Amino acid sequence: MDAARPVLAFRNVAKVYGEGDAEVRALDGVDFEIYPGEFVAVMGASGSGKSTTLNILGCLDVPSSGTYDFMGVPVETLDRKQRALLRQNYLGFVFQGFNLLKRTTALENVELPLIYRGTPARERRALAEEALRLVGLGDRMDHTSSELSGGQQQRVAIARAIVTSPAVMLADEPTGNLDSQRSHEIMRLFRDLNAKRGITIIVVTHEEDIAAYCRRHIRFKDGRIASDDVRTPAEAAS
Ligand SMILES: Nc1ncnc2c1ncn2[C@@H]1O[C@H](COP(=O)(O)OP(=O)(O)O)[C@@H](O)[C@H]1O
Ligand SMILES: [Mg+2]
Repeated sequence: MDAARPVLAFRNVAKVYGEGDAEVRALDGVDFEIYPGEFVAVMGASGSGKSTTLNILGCLDVPSSGTYDFMGVPVETLDRKQRALLRQNYLGFVFQGFNLLKRTTALENVELPLIYRGTPARERRALAEEALRLVGLGDRMDHTSSELSGGQQQRVAIARAIVTSPAVMLADEPTGNLDSQRSHEIMRLFRDLNAKRGITIIVVTHEEDIAAYCRRHIRFKDGRIASDDVRTPAEAAS
């Protein structure tokens, strides 16, 4: 990917839900660019527009006005099927609730996105095993989700998100259901994946100590960007 060009860009994005008296302006005039290899925290109080932003970034929704460019393509010009292909090929998702299939093994959960892509069985298996080893679950591949702890389930979800080698990984409150120690383990894993594999990672969180792992902090307030700061490595280490 061309590091000199943004991988994602919002240009004057607004998102309005409902109409008339019920109208909610979830986003209002939002502009930012994210470059390949960035590690970004999207922050802000509840209701400030974080999930709305992530849903648009993930091509699950489109702006009411303004433009969302993904790798130079205005997403609102794509139809549903094209957006689904874009998600399948370039994006990885991690959610607060893990969203794994319960009575299914870690390996099968991680193979799932490759089945949708039509990857042959043998290659699928090898890629899923590699992803699980990368998140530290090489010895838990045959365990079902219900046999794994919350932290381990989130690792499976991260393996599932990276198995397709996405350009961008999007995580909405990924530590929201985890205790403090497990939360920090997950953030260290994200940091390693960002540093060693160059995956662009965007993490939504309202917790300062979780955001502290990220180089850049975009803070929302009432559907607008209140601040957008890149910290120096020295600041990030403290
Ligand atoms: N599907 C929806 N329909 C109506 N209003 C919504 C919908 N989704 C979000 N909102 C509203 O948009 C605003 C921003 O929500 P959201 O992006 O979920 O905030 P955050 O993730 O920061 O808590 C809130 O006022 C919320 O109630
Ligand atoms: Mg939210």
